[in-house]
Amino acid sequence: MKYNFDEPVVRRGTSCVKHDMLKEVFGTEDLLPMWVADMDFKTPDFIVNAVRERCNHEVFGYTFAPNTYICAVLNWFQSHYGIESKWNKMHFIPGIVQGIAFVLQAFTQPGDNVLLTTPVYPPFLNVPHRSGRRFVNSSLKTVNGRFEIDYEDFEEKAKGCKVFILANPHNPGGTVWTAEELRRIAEICYRQKVLVISDEIHADLTLPGHHHISFSKVSDEAYHNSITFFAPSKTFNMAGLASSVGYVPDPDVRRQFFNFLDANELSLGNLFAYVGAEAAFRYGEEWRLQMLDYIQANADFAIDYLAKNAPKVVAMRPEASFLLWLDFNAYGLPHDELVRIMIEEAKVGLNSGTDYGRDGSGFMRLNFGCSRATLEEGLRRICDVLRNR
Ligand SMILES: Cc1ncc(COP(=O)(O)O)c(C=O)c1O
Repeated sequence: MKYNFDEPVVRRGTSCVKHDMLKEVFGTEDLLPMWVADMDFKTPDFIVNAVRERCNHEVFGYTFAPNTYICAVLNWFQSHYGIESKWNKMHFIPGIVQGIAFVLQAFTQPGDNVLLTTPVYPPFLNVPHRSGRRFVNSSLKTVNGRFEIDYEDFEEKAKGCKVFILANPHNPGGTVWTAEELRRIAEICYRQKVLVISDEIHADLTLPGHHHISFSKVSDEAYHNSITFFAPSKTFNMAGLASSVGYVPDPDVRRQFFNFLDANELSLGNLFAYVGAEAAFRYGEEWRLQMLDYIQANADFAIDYLAKNAPKVVAMRPEASFLLWLDFNAYGLPHDELVRIMIEEAKVGLNSGTDYGRDGSGFMRLNFGCSRATLEEGLRRICDVLRNR
């Protein structure tokens, strides 16, 4: 391995949400942070060096998306997702959550219904709610340790909704949806006139043995009825640079969305967003593959550790990303008590399952995008407090 993912990195004191907001969120700083979905690894050297090099120029004026950035994005999208190389179907977006909010503004009105499948990444619930939209929820089923959509319920709930927000791959379950699953989602949403937002931020974190399929590729219905968001931010640990891309293949959907973005002056990224993304997409493949091997080994380690030391905890084996959805329901604890035990006794900062929707009661999400030593310490703390329960 060329890169060292075991290297400890001190992140405290950098205004990073994961390490520096513990007091605000959990009420104490004395926790091992295993929550916010970024990794504790160093952002790779080729990204850091590209940013450094740009700093040497010493003028940070207004900047448009450079051609070298556009070429790097298009090459990556073509080679990794099989998406056609046309920048006119794409748009720079700062962050994907912002992108989702922009779609809701452009395609829905306050009071409109937005479809979700829960449990799901909390901003999918919060963004519609805070902007006066109502979310309609279809619960995911767990089948053979993996999330599945209840299509009958999904179609029933889709009726009267304007937009469906899909996490592809899924957060918190790490589910890599199959072509057949995506096709069925596309078919139902097309029939019910529900525009699909496919959030593919975790796509490049698809673990060995699984294959990410970009939503718009699965059928004509998907192609003509979707907006897809991609970003290098999770994969290359550069979320702070706020650099994402929206892809809209259908001309009518595209016109409506891009007009909204342009009318609201949302088309300019910041200078370092372009520099970082270009470096990630130009030079990142070797680092990405090594990081994925490390992450896969972390997932195996965590699942094995829990099976040996806290066998009542059920971990959903992720097919993508560095997040572990843990089911503690066998302990029969009220959810608030589970949260209290993790904070006050185990002293680990996990995400509370109920933030992902009501289906998340009795669940916690653990971020294993860290060194093996940190992961082992977090698991040890969790298992120790569960031992006599
Ligand atoms: C599914 C999903 N979408 C979006 C984001 C955040 O994206 P951004 O930082 O680009 O807004 C996350 C971060 O955890 C995520 O898991």
